[in-house]
Amino acid sequence: MKICMIGTGYVGLVSGTCFADLGNKVYCVDKDKIKINKLKDAISPIYEPGLNDLIRNNYKAKRLYFTDDLEKAISESQIIFICVGTPNKKKSNLVDISQVHSVAKSISKYIKNYKIIVNKSTVPVSTGDQIEKIIAKKVKKSMFDVISNPEFLREGEAIRDFKYPDRIIIGSNNKNTFKKMKLLYEPLIRKGAKFFTTSRKGAELIKYASNAFLATKITFINEIANLCESIGINIEDISIGMGSDARIGSRFLRAGPAYGGSCFPKDTKGLVSIADKYRTNLSIVKSVIKSNNNRKILLTKRISKIMNNKIRNKKITVLGVTFKANTDDMRESSSLVLIPYLLKKGGLVRYYDPSGPKDEFKKNKNLKFEKNIHKACIGSDLIIINTEWDEFKSIDFKKIVKKSNFKIYDMRNLYNPNQLKKKKIKYYSVGR
Ligand code: UDX
Repeated sequence: MKICMIGTGYVGLVSGTCFADLGNKVYCVDKDKIKINKLKDAISPIYEPGLNDLIRNNYKAKRLYFTDDLEKAISESQIIFICVGTPNKKKSNLVDISQVHSVAKSISKYIKNYKIIVNKSTVPVSTGDQIEKIIAKKVKKSMFDVISNPEFLREGEAIRDFKYPDRIIIGSNNKNTFKKMKLLYEPLIRKGAKFFTTSRKGAELIKYASNAFLATKITFINEIANLCESIGINIEDISIGMGSDARIGSRFLRAGPAYGGSCFPKDTKGLVSIADKYRTNLSIVKSVIKSNNNRKILLTKRISKIMNNKIRNKKITVLGVTFKANTDDMRESSSLVLIPYLLKKGGLVRYYDPSGPKDEFKKNKNLKFEKNIHKACIGSDLIIINTEWDEFKSIDFKKIVKKSNFKIYDMRNLYNPNQLKKKKIKYYSVGR
């Protein structure tokens, strides 16, 4: 099929490249010319394992095109995906869908024959209606359908998530569109993905409800971890014991720092604002947002306790600063609260992240990026493991720290407490 992705951000670029890899002819459109030129050289603007190779192969095979020519991309394509950003409005839970509206306006200028317009951006319920209205100002209703097809890609796992999705959700008010979308996703359905159709608004809500539920699951286990710490029970046992119940499921039950990233914080707030509009009180989601924000503070207090309130002039190492492993994304990372706290308390902080130094942490004389684990850890008083990169999982701390009495605070429970105890390392973790 011939398709076009408008927006080469995370969702647009990964989905477009993967659709090309399935044999489709895909136009990836972005108004940012520099980005388009880089993509033509197979340089991905985002960090995603495996993506550069996939871009290069499909670009060479002439299945994947990068362009800023929206008119050409639309006229050549049968299906047009909207994949632009939908951030929260400043200091508000409201979702800013201005980019979606502006793309809808542009699309309306170039439709000459029938198109399916697919919204993949995460948007408040009834945005599909608004897109339809905008396009219908210029184009006859029989010339297009607007449908919703939310994306569930995780950063760092996006290619796998695209190729082996649990489900493909298509929301449309015109049943005829389901057939075409099923055809597009056929190779994935054949491998076992569930193809589920619903109304357009239904699909829009499924996305928010899914992310809010996962955020709730994480927040729940994080609170149980707090209880485990108070009683002296191992949270890992609780996660396994609970997760073995098929009704609960074992995934997303890992206790850790506050959840972060580009989706959960944004989408939980977005869902509350949607519910407010329809005068419905989502008290659980509101509590989740509050609990997750509190968690960032709670963990800084725990660090203070581990250090007996003596952080000033202590050498502190933070391993991993992104919101999770296998990404370079800093959005809503708990390190954005953690590191400023340590600096405020007079700590001398070094950090190492496999995805490189971060602009967010540039200007501070007491904060330094180190090029490897070894340099970051030598001589430290406290090592905080903030994310779960593989290279953090089997460090010989005694050998590299070269100091007695250093402490480790493992926020991802990567190590076995008994083994570190045997080595006489002061080791603290989450919920155990
Ligand atoms: C998420 C959703 O998983 C994806 O379906 C959606 O489309 C986009 O948002 P992503 O933001 O890439 O994906 O990250 P994810 O792997 O879901 O993790 C989100 C946050 O939860 C991270 O901060 C992570 O560290 C945390 N987390 C996740 C836990 O603390 N414990 C877990 O068990 C799982």
